[in-house]
Amino acid sequence: MHGFETRAIHAGQDPDPTTGAVITPIYATSTYAQDGVGGLREGYEYSRTANPTRTALEECIAALEGGVRGLAFASGMAAEDTLLRTVLNPGDHVVIPNDAYGGTFRLVSKVAERWGVSWTAAPVTDVAAVRAAVRPETKLIWVETPTNPLLSVADITGLAAVARDAGVLLVVDNTFATPYLQQPLALGADVVVHSTTKYCGGHSDVVGGVLVVSDAALGDELAYHQNAIGAVAGPFDAWLVLRGLKTLAVRMDRHCDNAERVVELLERHPRVSQVLYPGLPGHPGHDVAVKQMSRFGGMVSFRMAEGEQAAVDVCNRAKLFTLGESLGGIESLIEHPGRMTHASAAGSALEVPGDLVRLSVGIETVEDILADLGQALG
Ligand SMILES: Cc1ncc(COP(=O)(O)O)c(C=O)c1O
Repeated sequence: MHGFETRAIHAGQDPDPTTGAVITPIYATSTYAQDGVGGLREGYEYSRTANPTRTALEECIAALEGGVRGLAFASGMAAEDTLLRTVLNPGDHVVIPNDAYGGTFRLVSKVAERWGVSWTAAPVTDVAAVRAAVRPETKLIWVETPTNPLLSVADITGLAAVARDAGVLLVVDNTFATPYLQQPLALGADVVVHSTTKYCGGHSDVVGGVLVVSDAALGDELAYHQNAIGAVAGPFDAWLVLRGLKTLAVRMDRHCDNAERVVELLERHPRVSQVLYPGLPGHPGHDVAVKQMSRFGGMVSFRMAEGEQAAVDVCNRAKLFTLGESLGGIESLIEHPGRMTHASAAGSALEVPGDLVRLSVGIETVEDILADLGQALG
């Protein structure tokens, strides 16, 4: 099999058969001419079911994650929703992380629960606690690693063993790490989820999501539901994500380089009480992260010693760091999770500390990133 960068640029992306176009065209079409009734060309009949631009993205992401099938959706949440509706029935139970993207928590606790699905939030860092949370009616264990926004690390191999013993699926949200830094299917996970809005797209210009699976039968069931539910990625969005994937490796290298310098600055800063980054030897998940990640990514969170108002003030003072939600783009972003991305988790087991600031460290000139953070910290 080719190397990662080669797959990112070529998998699913042979030159266009009609014109030889080197870059996969945006097939802006809803339907396809048939050569006689049922005479489909290359299997295409209607673009909710399949579209060649989306197919290219689906094949590429499957090749990058080492899966047998990829499926692309209109958003990360659409991917998650389709997965839950494919594998769960009323009466089923899921184990979710007690530290996760707020939207995932909201989908399970506010939407799936209304359809008769129960859930338990367990600490993803503790394999024994996740094992204890599994019930006879459990159908899947969901984890993110590293988590959003606390950057906790889940032991994918350990959790895969729990899932295997219990006969349930292990789902890993790989949005923060990307397939360049971590490949959960090779570690025993059954399904990988991405918000491709983030590093896969990489340029803050598209919202999308994907699922990748290692089992062809599960892939077929998901494809059935992808078509039945219809929350698919449009061809232009699929094309943007596909273009983003081509440079994922070089962008991630620079995100990691810059994040490491940011971590150094934060570690020395007297107003910062704690830096959360899996690359730090003192991070509780560091040893596991070293085993399952090649580097530690571009996301850095930290806590302000003086509390919530100080954290909000840092966010407001930043200039090069744009104050905004989302992450994983080329530009640096800063946010206050408690009042922004994770506001929906307030009052729940997933509430995040008020003194927390989250950074998505971009790929601008690192001296400029450090200077802006320095002035924002005061
Ligand atoms: C880790 C993680 N998973 C899933 C999602 C949801 O993805 P989307 O916003 O593309 O629907 C997000 C969004 O922030 C996320 O950070």
